[in-house]
Amino acid sequence: MHRPTLAVALLSASATYAAPALVARADIKCPIVFDGRLPTGSDADPSWLDTYATNAIYNPDYVKGNDIKWSEILKWPAVEASRFDGTNFIPFEVTISDKSIFQKQNGFRRAGLQFLKDASDGEGQKGVKTLHFSVKQDSARPLNLTHEYLNAWHEAADYSSNQIQFQTGQLIGKSAADKNNFKILDRNGKSLYSVAINTSQWQNFAIKLDYTKNQVQVYYSLGQAELKSVAGPTSANLAGGGQFQIGILKKPTGSSDVVNTGYQSKNLNEGQIYGGVFLEDSTNNCVSL
Ligand SMILES: *[C@@H]1O[C@H](CO)[C@@H](O)[C@H](O)[C@H]1NC(C)=O
Ligand SMILES: *[C@@H]1O[C@H](CO)[C@@H](O)[C@H](O)[C@H]1NC(C)=O
Repeated sequence: MHRPTLAVALLSASATYAAPALVARADIKCPIVFDGRLPTGSDADPSWLDTYATNAIYNPDYVKGNDIKWSEILKWPAVEASRFDGTNFIPFEVTISDKSIFQKQNGFRRAGLQFLKDASDGEGQKGVKTLHFSVKQDSARPLNLTHEYLNAWHEAADYSSNQIQFQTGQLIGKSAADKNNFKILDRNGKSLYSVAINTSQWQNFAIKLDYTKNQVQVYYSLGQAELKSVAGPTSANLAGGGQFQIGILKKPTGSSDVVNTGYQSKNLNEGQIYGGVFLEDSTNNCVSL
Protein backbone atom coordinates (compact mmCIF):
# COMPACT_ATOMS: atom_id res chain seq x y z
CA MET A 1 0.00 0.00 0.00
CA HIS A 2 1.07 3.52 -0.73
CA ARG A 3 1.61 5.70 2.32
CA PRO A 4 1.63 9.40 1.47
CA THR A 5 3.46 10.46 4.63
CA LEU A 6 6.27 8.04 3.95
CA ALA A 7 6.47 9.21 0.35
CA VAL A 8 6.73 12.83 1.45
CA ALA A 9 9.51 12.05 3.89
CA LEU A 10 11.35 10.11 1.22
CA LEU A 11 10.91 12.83 -1.35
CA SER A 12 12.08 15.59 0.96
CA ALA A 13 15.11 13.57 1.92
CA SER A 14 16.03 12.86 -1.69
CA ALA A 15 15.66 16.53 -2.56
CA THR A 16 18.21 17.49 0.05
CA TYR A 17 20.85 14.79 0.14
CA ALA A 18 22.81 12.86 -2.43
CA ALA A 19 21.46 9.45 -3.41
CA PRO A 20 22.44 6.55 -1.18
CA ALA A 21 25.52 5.04 -2.78
CA LEU A 22 24.72 1.40 -2.06
CA VAL A 23 22.26 0.68 -4.86
CA ALA A 24 22.80 3.31 -7.54
CA ARG A 25 24.06 1.92 -10.84
CA ALA A 26 26.37 4.87 -11.09
CA ASP A 27 26.95 7.07 -8.10
CA ILE A 28 26.20 10.74 -8.23
CA LYS A 29 29.45 12.14 -6.92
CA CYS A 30 28.67 15.87 -6.77
CA PRO A 31 26.22 17.70 -4.49
CA ILE A 32 22.67 17.48 -5.83
CA VAL A 33 20.98 20.86 -6.20
CA PHE A 34 17.60 19.59 -7.47
CA ASP A 35 16.74 15.90 -7.49
CA GLY A 36 14.09 15.09 -10.10
CA ARG A 37 14.33 11.32 -9.73
CA LEU A 38 11.16 9.56 -8.62
CA PRO A 39 11.56 7.05 -5.77
CA THR A 40 10.78 3.40 -6.30
CA GLY A 41 7.19 2.79 -5.22
CA SER A 42 6.06 6.33 -5.95
CA ASP A 43 4.06 5.02 -8.92
CA ALA A 44 1.73 2.95 -6.70
CA ASP A 45 -0.60 5.90 -6.13
CA PRO A 46 0.69 8.80 -8.22
CA SER A 47 -1.86 11.26 -6.81
CA TRP A 48 0.96 12.63 -4.62
CA LEU A 49 2.21 14.39 -7.77
CA ASP A 50 -0.83 16.67 -7.83
CA THR A 51 -0.51 18.76 -4.66
CA TYR A 52 2.10 20.98 -3.03
CA ALA A 53 1.45 19.19 0.26
CA THR A 54 2.70 15.89 -1.14
CA ASN A 55 4.99 16.76 -4.06
CA ALA A 56 8.40 17.93 -2.90
CA ILE A 57 10.02 17.25 -6.29
CA TYR A 58 8.13 19.00 -9.07
CA ASN A 59 5.69 21.88 -9.34
CA PRO A 60 2.27 20.17 -9.34
CA ASP A 61 0.54 22.96 -11.29
CA TYR A 62 2.90 23.65 -14.20
CA VAL A 63 3.41 23.44 -17.18
CA LYS A 64 0.62 21.24 -18.47
CA GLY A 65 -2.86 21.05 -19.92
CA ASN A 66 -5.44 22.95 -17.91
CA ASP A 67 -7.69 19.92 -17.45
CA ILE A 68 -5.23 17.13 -16.80
CA LYS A 69 -3.15 16.26 -13.74
CA TRP A 70 0.43 15.07 -13.48
CA SER A 71 -0.85 11.78 -12.04
CA GLU A 72 -2.59 11.27 -15.40
CA ILE A 73 0.22 12.67 -17.56
CA LEU A 74 3.01 10.50 -16.16
CA LYS A 75 3.09 6.81 -17.10
CA TRP A 76 5.26 4.13 -15.61
CA PRO A 77 6.98 2.12 -18.33
CA ALA A 78 8.35 -1.31 -17.48
CA VAL A 79 11.88 -0.62 -18.67
CA GLU A 80 15.23 -1.14 -16.98
CA ALA A 81 16.47 1.62 -14.72
CA SER A 82 18.66 4.30 -16.25
CA ARG A 83 22.28 4.85 -15.28
CA PHE A 84 21.71 7.17 -12.31
CA ASP A 85 18.45 5.61 -11.07
CA GLY A 86 19.73 2.31 -9.70
CA THR A 87 17.11 0.47 -7.65
CA ASN A 88 16.00 3.44 -5.54
CA PHE A 89 14.42 5.38 -8.40
CA ILE A 90 12.16 4.52 -11.33
CA PRO A 91 11.77 5.69 -14.92
CA PHE A 92 8.70 7.73 -15.78
CA GLU A 93 7.15 8.73 -19.08
CA VAL A 94 5.90 12.24 -19.81
CA THR A 95 2.97 11.98 -22.22
CA ILE A 96 1.00 14.43 -24.33
CA SER A 97 -2.55 14.11 -25.59
CA ASP A 98 -5.25 16.38 -27.03
CA LYS A 99 -5.67 17.68 -23.47
CA SER A 100 -2.12 19.03 -23.34
CA ILE A 101 -3.09 22.65 -23.94
CA PHE A 102 -1.62 25.03 -21.36
CA GLN A 103 -3.63 28.20 -20.72
CA LYS A 104 -4.65 29.39 -24.23
CA GLN A 105 -1.59 28.07 -26.07
CA ASN A 106 -3.59 26.23 -28.73
CA GLY A 107 -0.58 25.74 -31.01
CA PHE A 108 1.46 23.74 -28.52
CA ARG A 109 0.86 20.40 -26.90
CA ARG A 110 2.96 20.42 -23.78
CA ALA A 111 3.75 18.79 -20.45
CA GLY A 112 6.86 20.17 -18.78
CA LEU A 113 8.14 19.35 -15.31
CA GLN A 114 9.75 22.09 -13.25
CA PHE A 115 11.87 21.36 -10.20
CA LEU A 116 9.81 22.63 -7.26
CA LYS A 117 12.63 24.70 -5.76
CA ASP A 118 13.93 26.12 -9.04
CA ALA A 119 13.56 29.92 -8.86
CA SER A 120 14.42 32.47 -11.52
CA ASP A 121 17.24 33.96 -9.44
CA GLY A 122 17.91 30.86 -7.37
CA GLU A 123 20.65 28.29 -6.96
CA GLY A 124 19.96 26.71 -10.37
CA GLN A 125 21.16 29.89 -12.10
CA LYS A 126 24.43 30.45 -10.28
CA GLY A 127 27.99 29.19 -10.40
CA VAL A 128 28.49 26.00 -12.39
CA LYS A 129 25.65 23.47 -12.57
CA THR A 130 25.11 20.31 -14.62
CA LEU A 131 21.68 19.15 -15.73
CA HIS A 132 21.45 15.38 -16.09
CA PHE A 133 18.69 13.43 -17.81
CA SER A 134 18.37 10.11 -19.58
CA VAL A 135 15.79 9.47 -22.30
CA LYS A 136 14.30 6.34 -23.78
CA GLN A 137 11.71 5.86 -26.52
CA ASP A 138 8.34 4.16 -26.13
CA SER A 139 7.39 2.33 -29.34
CA ALA A 140 3.73 2.47 -28.24
CA ARG A 141 3.83 6.28 -28.00
CA PRO A 142 6.31 7.45 -30.63
CA LEU A 143 7.08 11.11 -31.25
CA ASN A 144 6.13 12.35 -34.72
CA LEU A 145 9.41 13.71 -35.98
CA THR A 146 7.70 15.73 -38.72
CA HIS A 147 7.12 18.17 -35.84
CA GLU A 148 9.57 20.18 -33.77
CA TYR A 149 9.93 19.09 -30.13
CA LEU A 150 11.51 20.85 -27.21
CA ASN A 151 12.07 18.25 -24.49
CA ALA A 152 14.43 19.78 -21.94
CA TRP A 153 15.48 23.38 -21.67
CA HIS A 154 16.35 26.34 -19.53
CA GLU A 155 14.03 29.26 -20.16
CA ALA A 156 15.10 32.82 -19.37
CA ALA A 157 13.17 34.59 -16.60
CA ASP A 158 11.62 37.02 -19.11
CA TYR A 159 10.48 34.07 -21.32
CA SER A 160 12.18 35.71 -24.32
CA SER A 161 14.50 32.79 -25.06
CA ASN A 162 15.90 29.50 -23.84
CA GLN A 163 19.57 29.63 -22.90
CA ILE A 164 19.89 25.95 -23.73
CA GLN A 165 17.49 23.61 -25.54
CA PHE A 166 17.37 19.84 -26.02
CA GLN A 167 15.24 19.18 -29.06
CA THR A 168 14.26 16.64 -31.67
CA GLY A 169 12.21 16.32 -34.84
CA GLN A 170 12.07 18.68 -37.77
CA LEU A 171 13.08 22.07 -36.41
CA ILE A 172 10.83 24.68 -38.02
CA GLY A 173 12.67 26.52 -40.77
CA LYS A 174 15.69 24.21 -40.63
CA SER A 175 16.82 21.21 -42.66
CA ALA A 176 14.86 17.98 -42.26
CA ALA A 177 18.07 15.97 -42.67
CA ASP A 178 18.61 15.63 -38.92
CA LYS A 179 14.98 15.27 -37.85
CA ASN A 180 15.75 11.85 -36.31
CA ASN A 181 18.43 13.36 -34.10
CA PHE A 182 18.44 14.79 -30.63
CA LYS A 183 19.96 18.25 -30.84
CA ILE A 184 21.33 20.54 -28.15
CA LEU A 185 21.13 24.17 -29.21
CA ASP A 186 22.16 27.44 -27.63
CA ARG A 187 19.74 30.37 -27.24
CA ASN A 188 20.47 31.54 -30.78
CA GLY A 189 19.66 28.14 -32.26
CA LYS A 190 23.29 27.22 -32.86
CA SER A 191 23.78 23.45 -32.65
CA LEU A 192 26.22 22.39 -29.93
CA TYR A 193 25.68 18.64 -30.24
CA SER A 194 23.54 16.26 -32.26
CA VAL A 195 23.10 12.48 -32.05
CA ALA A 196 20.64 10.03 -33.64
CA ILE A 197 17.69 8.94 -31.51
CA ASN A 198 18.20 5.35 -30.43
CA THR A 199 14.92 3.49 -30.32
CA SER A 200 16.06 0.71 -27.99
CA GLN A 201 18.63 2.07 -25.54
CA TRP A 202 18.75 4.71 -22.84
CA GLN A 203 20.56 7.84 -23.98
CA ASN A 204 22.20 9.78 -21.17
CA PHE A 205 22.87 13.49 -21.44
CA ALA A 206 24.54 15.96 -19.10
CA ILE A 207 24.75 19.65 -19.89
CA LYS A 208 27.21 21.65 -17.82
CA LEU A 209 26.24 25.30 -17.55
CA ASP A 210 29.02 27.60 -16.37
CA TYR A 211 27.11 30.77 -15.55
CA THR A 212 30.30 32.49 -14.44
CA LYS A 213 32.13 32.01 -17.76
CA ASN A 214 29.08 31.71 -20.05
CA GLN A 215 30.18 28.30 -21.27
CA VAL A 216 28.39 25.03 -22.02
CA GLN A 217 29.84 21.53 -22.09
CA VAL A 218 27.87 18.47 -23.21
CA TYR A 219 28.39 14.90 -21.97
CA TYR A 220 26.71 11.83 -23.43
CA SER A 221 26.55 8.04 -23.29
CA LEU A 222 24.38 5.17 -24.52
CA GLY A 223 22.83 2.50 -22.29
CA GLN A 224 24.67 2.08 -19.00
CA ALA A 225 28.01 3.37 -20.30
CA GLU A 226 29.97 6.11 -18.57
CA LEU A 227 29.32 9.57 -19.94
CA LYS A 228 32.01 11.25 -22.04
CA SER A 229 32.49 14.88 -22.98
CA VAL A 230 31.22 15.23 -26.55
CA ALA A 231 31.13 18.99 -27.05
CA GLY A 232 32.63 22.14 -25.55
CA PRO A 233 33.26 23.93 -23.41
CA THR A 234 31.71 26.37 -25.88
CA SER A 235 30.85 30.02 -25.33
CA ALA A 236 27.11 30.55 -24.88
CA ASN A 237 25.16 33.41 -23.38
CA LEU A 238 23.61 31.98 -20.21
CA ALA A 239 22.47 35.31 -18.76
CA GLY A 240 18.89 36.03 -17.77
CA GLY A 241 18.06 33.59 -14.95
CA GLY A 242 14.94 31.51 -15.37
CA GLN A 243 14.03 27.87 -14.90
CA PHE A 244 14.62 24.38 -16.19
CA GLN A 245 11.81 22.41 -17.77
CA ILE A 246 11.74 18.73 -18.72
CA GLY A 247 9.09 16.83 -20.64
CA ILE A 248 7.62 17.44 -24.08
CA LEU A 249 6.66 20.61 -25.89
CA LYS A 250 5.41 19.72 -29.37
CA LYS A 251 5.18 22.59 -31.81
CA PRO A 252 2.53 22.65 -34.56
CA THR A 253 3.19 22.63 -38.30
CA GLY A 254 2.03 25.24 -40.79
CA SER A 255 2.05 28.28 -38.54
CA SER A 256 4.09 31.41 -38.02
CA ASP A 257 2.47 31.84 -34.59
CA VAL A 258 3.38 28.46 -33.12
CA VAL A 259 2.25 29.26 -29.59
CA ASN A 260 -1.32 29.94 -30.56
CA THR A 261 -2.15 28.37 -33.91
CA GLY A 262 -1.11 25.62 -36.32
CA TYR A 263 -1.73 21.98 -37.05
CA GLN A 264 -1.64 19.22 -34.46
CA SER A 265 -3.00 15.77 -35.27
CA LYS A 266 -5.93 14.53 -33.21
CA ASN A 267 -5.99 11.60 -30.77
CA LEU A 268 -2.40 12.34 -29.80
CA ASN A 269 -0.73 9.69 -27.71
CA GLU A 270 2.97 10.42 -27.48
CA GLY A 271 5.52 10.01 -24.76
CA GLN A 272 9.12 10.49 -23.76
CA ILE A 273 10.58 8.24 -21.08
CA TYR A 274 12.92 9.91 -18.58
CA GLY A 275 15.23 8.71 -15.86
CA GLY A 276 18.17 10.07 -13.90
CA VAL A 277 16.90 13.65 -13.85
CA PHE A 278 18.87 15.91 -11.50
CA LEU A 279 20.89 19.09 -11.33
CA GLU A 280 24.28 18.83 -9.67
CA ASP A 281 26.78 21.36 -8.44
CA SER A 282 29.80 21.31 -10.74
CA THR A 283 32.01 23.60 -8.70
CA ASN A 284 35.64 22.49 -9.17
CA ASN A 285 34.61 20.73 -12.39
CA CYS A 286 32.72 17.97 -10.60
CA VAL A 287 30.51 16.08 -13.06
CA SER A 288 29.02 12.64 -12.41
CA LEU A 289 29.84 10.38 -15.31
C1 LIG B 1 2.83 13.39 -38.21
O1 LIG B 1 2.62 14.78 -38.36
C2 LIG B 1 2.22 15.16 -39.66
C3 LIG B 1 2.17 16.68 -39.67
O2 LIG B 1 1.30 17.13 -38.63
C4 LIG B 1 0.88 14.53 -39.97
O3 LIG B 1 0.50 14.87 -41.29
C5 LIG B 1 1.00 13.02 -39.85
O4 LIG B 1 -0.28 12.43 -40.01
C6 LIG B 1 1.55 12.64 -38.47
N1 LIG B 1 1.81 11.20 -38.43
C7 LIG B 1 1.32 10.42 -37.51
C8 LIG B 1 1.73 8.99 -37.57
O5 LIG B 1 0.58 10.84 -36.63
C1 LIG C 1 20.95 1.70 -30.72
O1 LIG C 1 22.20 1.44 -30.15
C2 LIG C 1 22.61 0.12 -30.32
C3 LIG C 1 23.88 -0.08 -29.50
O2 LIG C 1 24.89 0.78 -29.94
C4 LIG C 1 22.84 -0.12 -31.79
O3 LIG C 1 23.24 -1.47 -32.00
C5 LIG C 1 21.54 0.10 -32.53
O4 LIG C 1 21.78 0.01 -33.90
C6 LIG C 1 20.98 1.46 -32.20
N1 LIG C 1 19.63 1.45 -32.74
C7 LIG C 1 19.04 2.51 -33.23
C8 LIG C 1 17.70 2.30 -33.84
O5 LIG C 1 19.54 3.60 -33.22
